[in-house]
Amino acid sequence: MLLKCLLVLKLITICLSYENEFIVDYYKHKEISRIVGFFCGNTTRMFKLINKFNNLEISAAMPLLTMDFNVEKLKTSYWKIGIILDLRCQNKNFAGFMSETAGHYTYTNLYNWLILGESLDSVLPRLNDSTYSVVTDLVIATPILDGYVLHDVYNPSKYHGGSLNVTELGDWHRSSGLNITLTHSKFNRRANYHGMILRVLTVTQFKPNNTRLEDYLEDYSNKSIDLMSKFVYPLMQHLCDIFNFTMDLSTDFYWDEIAENGSHTGMMGMLNRGFADITGSPGAINQKRFPLGELVMPIWNFRTCFFFLSSPLRSTNELLQPFSTGSWYATGALTILIALILSISLAFEKIDHWIRQYGIALFSTICILCQQGSSVIPNFLTGRLVFLQLLFFSLLIFNYYSACIVSVRLNQPLDKINDSLNELAESNMDIAAERIVYYDYLLETSTDWEVQMLKEKRWSKMSDAKKYLPLEEGLKRITRGGFAYHCDPNRGYPLMEKLFTSEMICRLSEVHLYHPQGLGAWISKDQ
Ligand SMILES: *[C@@H]1O[C@H](CO)[C@@H](O)[C@H](O)[C@H]1NC(C)=O
Ligand SMILES: *[C@@H]1O[C@H](CO)[C@@H](O)[C@H](O)[C@H]1NC(C)=O
Ligand SMILES: *[C@@H]1O[C@H](CO)[C@@H](O)[C@H](O)[C@H]1NC(C)=O
Ligand SMILES: *[C@@H]1O[C@H](CO)[C@@H](O)[C@H](O)[C@H]1NC(C)=O
Ligand SMILES: *[C@@H]1O[C@H](CO)[C@@H](O)[C@H](O)[C@H]1NC(C)=O
Ligand SMILES: *[C@@H]1O[C@H](CO)[C@@H](O)[C@H](O)[C@H]1NC(C)=O
Ligand SMILES: *[C@@H]1O[C@H](CO)[C@@H](O)[C@H](O)[C@H]1NC(C)=O
Ligand SMILES: *[C@@H]1O[C@H](CO)[C@@H](O)[C@H](O)[C@H]1NC(C)=O
Repeated sequence: MLLKCLLVLKLITICLSYENEFIVDYYKHKEISRIVGFFCGNTTRMFKLINKFNNLEISAAMPLLTMDFNVEKLKTSYWKIGIILDLRCQNKNFAGFMSETAGHYTYTNLYNWLILGESLDSVLPRLNDSTYSVVTDLVIATPILDGYVLHDVYNPSKYHGGSLNVTELGDWHRSSGLNITLTHSKFNRRANYHGMILRVLTVTQFKPNNTRLEDYLEDYSNKSIDLMSKFVYPLMQHLCDIFNFTMDLSTDFYWDEIAENGSHTGMMGMLNRGFADITGSPGAINQKRFPLGELVMPIWNFRTCFFFLSSPLRSTNELLQPFSTGSWYATGALTILIALILSISLAFEKIDHWIRQYGIALFSTICILCQQGSSVIPNFLTGRLVFLQLLFFSLLIFNYYSACIVSVRLNQPLDKINDSLNELAESNMDIAAERIVYYDYLLETSTDWEVQMLKEKRWSKMSDAKKYLPLEEGLKRITRGGFAYHCDPNRGYPLMEKLFTSEMICRLSEVHLYHPQGLGAWISKDQ
C-alpha cells in the first residue's frame, strides 16, 4: 500500500516537473518581471515553480482564485506581468474572472497570458474576447505527446465586428525545448484588419450641404478652408491601404466645445463618447483633452500670427552715421593741425597781418575739405607740400564718406518688431483679426503676459465692428501698410502669394499669437 502511494506520488512529481519546465522555458526569454499563476492549489508544485521563477529573478505569486478575488491586484503601469491560468482546474470562479479581467483591460501590451487547457475546443468558448486587440499577448498551450503545442490568440476588435484569430505559434518538446515558428513581430503579423470598418470623424466648417464629404475633402481648389482636414484625409487613406481597414467617414462642425452642463461636444466629445474611433482632423494637445481620448502622435504643426509690412527704419543721424565718433574727432583734430601747419608755412609768404594769415589758413583748409577749392596757393615749397597733403587727405575722406552715405541709403534696414505681442500693442499700427475659434479662446484663457498686454492695451479697447475682418479684406489692408492682421498662416499665405508683390513679401513680418505647436491624431480610449 505504502509502495503504491509512493509510486503515484513519484509519477505525479515527474509529470508536474515536466509542466513546470515548460512554463519556465516559455517565460525565460520574455521580459517579465512578475508572474501571477492560478493553479489548482497543489502546493508542492507551486512552491517548485515559484522557486524556479525566483532563480530567474522573476517574482511570482500563486494566489487562490476565490469568489472575491480582486482583479485590481493585477494592475500594472510600468512592468510586464505574466498571468498563467490553468483552465483544467475545476474552479467555478473562472467565468467571472474572465469577464472581470476583460473589464479591467488586462489584454494590453503589459500583460502576457498563458492559458493551459486540455484542448482548444475546451478553452476557446471560455475566453471573453470583448477587449482583445492587436496588442493582446495571449497563448493557449494544449498537451501533445511529451510536450505542448502553443496557439497565438487575438481579436483585432470584437466591438468592430472582428473575430477571434487562433494561429499556431510553435511547440515545446521535452527533448528539444521551445520552438517558436511564428517569428514575425506581433504587429507585422496582425497588420491586416481585413476590411474592418473604423469610424473616422473630421471637422469641416465650410462644407456645402450638397457635396459628398469624400469629394469635399479631395477638392483642393479652395486650399485655404478646412485645410487641416483635407491634409489628414489622404493620410487616413494611406493608413487604410497599409492596414486594410475601411473608413466610415463623418464630420462635425467643431473640434471641442464645452456645453453649459460641462459635457464636451464637437469632435473630441464624440470621440470620448465612443461615436468615433479616430479623429480625421488634428486636435490640439493639451491637458484638458487627455481624459477625452488617447493621443497617437502630432501630425500638424499649428501656429497663428499677426502679419504686417515693416516700414524702412527712419534714421535721425544719416549724415553722421558713416564715421564713428572717434573718427569724427580725429578728423576734426587733424583739420586743426593742418590749418596750424599751413598758417606757419604762410608766414614765409609775406602776408600783411598775422590775423589774416591764420584766417586764410583756416579758411582754405575748410574749403578744401569741403571740396570747394582754395583762393590762395602757396608759392614756397613748404606751403605747397602742406597744401598737397591737405588735398590728398580731403580726397580720401570725401570718397569714403560719400560711398558710405550711398550704401546706407540703398540698404535702409527695415523697422522690425521682435516676435512680441507687447511691442505690437505699443506700436502705432491698427490691428484686426480673422474670426477664428482659436483666437478668442486664447485671448480669454491665456495667462501669458504678452497676450494679456495685447488684450489690455489694444483689443479690449476696440469696437466690435473693427475687431474682425474677413481674410481677403484683411490681407488687402496689410498691403496699404500700418496695419497688422491676425490669421492662420496656412490660410493666409496662399492668398498672400496672389495679393502681394515681391517687395511686400520681403517686408512681411510675423508676430506669433500661438507659437508653433503640434496638433495630434487622437483615437478613442479603451478600444
Ligand atoms: C496535485 O494535483 C493533482 C492533479 O493535477 C492531484 O491529483 C493531486 O492530488 C494534487 N496533490 C496534492 C498534494 O494536492
Ligand atoms: C465579457 O466581459 C465584458 C467586460 O467585463 C462583459 O461586459 C461581458 O458581459 C463579458 N461577456 C461574456 C460572454 O461573459
Ligand atoms: C521548429 O519547427 C519547425 C516546423 O515544425 C521545424 O522545421 C524546425 O526544424 C524546428 N526547429 C527546431 C530547432 O526543432
Ligand atoms: C490571423 O493571424 C495571423 C498571424 O497572427 C495572420 O497571419 C492572419 O492574417 C490572421 N488572420 C485574420 C483573418 O486576421
Ligand atoms: C483586405 O481585406 C479584404 C476583406 O477581408 C480581403 O478580401 C483582401 O484580400 C484584403 N487585402 C489584403 C491586401 O490583404
Ligand atoms: C447646411 O445645413 C445645415 C442644417 O441642415 C444649415 O444649418 C446650414 O446653414 C446649411 N449650410 C449651407 C451652406 O447651406
Ligand atoms: C472658396 O471658399 C470661399 C469661402 O467659403 C467661397 O466664397 C469661394 O466661393 C470658394 N471658392 C471655390 C473655388 O470654391
Ligand atoms: C449636456 O448638454 C448637451 C447639449 O447641450 C446634451 O446633448 C447632453 O446630453 C447634456 N449632458 C448631460 C450629462 O446632461
